[in-house]
Amino acid sequence: MDANATTPLLPEVFDAMRPFWIEHFGNASSIHQQGQYARAAVDHARESVARLLHCRATEIVFTSGGTESDNLALTGVLEPGQHLITTTTEHHAVLHTAEALATRGIEVTFLPCTPQGLIEPATLRAALRPNTRLVSIIFANNETGTIQPIAELAAITHTAGALFHTDAVQAAGKLPIDLSPKGPLQHVDLLSVSGHKIYAPQGTGILFVRRNVRLAPLFHGGTHERQRRAGTENVPGIVGLGKAAELAQQWLTEDAPHDGPTHLAALRDRLEQGILATIPESGVNGAGTPRVCNTTNLYFDHVEAEALVIALDLKGLSVSGGSACQSGATEPSHVLTAMGLSPARARASVRFSLSRLTTADEVEAALTIIPAAVARLRTLSPTWQKQTAAVA
Ligand SMILES: Cc1ncc(COP(=O)(O)O)c(C=O)c1O
Repeated sequence: MDANATTPLLPEVFDAMRPFWIEHFGNASSIHQQGQYARAAVDHARESVARLLHCRATEIVFTSGGTESDNLALTGVLEPGQHLITTTTEHHAVLHTAEALATRGIEVTFLPCTPQGLIEPATLRAALRPNTRLVSIIFANNETGTIQPIAELAAITHTAGALFHTDAVQAAGKLPIDLSPKGPLQHVDLLSVSGHKIYAPQGTGILFVRRNVRLAPLFHGGTHERQRRAGTENVPGIVGLGKAAELAQQWLTEDAPHDGPTHLAALRDRLEQGILATIPESGVNGAGTPRVCNTTNLYFDHVEAEALVIALDLKGLSVSGGSACQSGATEPSHVLTAMGLSPARARASVRFSLSRLTTADEVEAALTIIPAAVARLRTLSPTWQKQTAAVA
């Protein structure tokens, strides 16, 4: 139950990739037949990703993942003296890039969120300046699953004449994304996706760059990806990403009761409700906001999330305290503290993120394991002991 950290590679994805390591290993830039075979596969994958996002194939740039896409988006459009607006609840791939840009003469504003984790349109409006060049707001939060009103925030940004980027790493494959010129996300100029969150391999990703947006590359070298990303293409990875995009599109439109986002949301809700019904002093972080179908972030007061993550792991259940990239750090999650949680409650919070392969039986098993682990850890907690002694 840690699919927001990474998803399993689907067998169909692996099968699609395999020949591109073995028989068809050509460099997609070579003019001989081996090269042209690889080129055709890259073009096919680009079409598949474009169909998932409802954009043009020429608007897709293949990268090494979400982190590179976020770096490319921000660094590629901003120049010293310009203003960047982002938020306090971004993934570090955006947050730390923004901090780095601030040391290079770019003005940066970090917007606060509501206690539910939402960025209010009025907050964005008030922060826009004549020199605002880019607004970057995460689509769905990796820790809480909260979905931002991206269409509205992007429209506000365009009214002010600035560009809009969204980190859609946790939204792609879970929500419909329609970037077509008259579609709901028509004001989004740049959008990041990571392969390993949509059942494709780690180390793959894309940046959507709307036609007419000028982007300076991060890497200098060949003319690959229409001069937006130099370097020999990772052909097997790109093929896998294309296959995963096709499967994601099918899954998003699937309305059979055993599959699709509605089914996954029902499993997530069963997990959440089962936990809340059996574990006192627990609750949902970001409750009441629109959330992606697979994610819930829960606090268990009087429990250290790190200890709970280990206890659950010993029972075969993988979850995450804070975001995966932060595990090992003792700092409470910056997302949860930005939402106003006390450091103690943020440190008592755990993310459960289901995958498309999670079964109802696994959810029931988790509902046996989690209450037992929380109860055992609480017997070791001084604050819990004090409280139960006072009640007795
Ligand atoms: C919201 C978000 N953005 C960016 C990333 C980074 O993506 P990648 O691991 O592909 O570099 C992640 C990964 O956890 C993420 O959740």
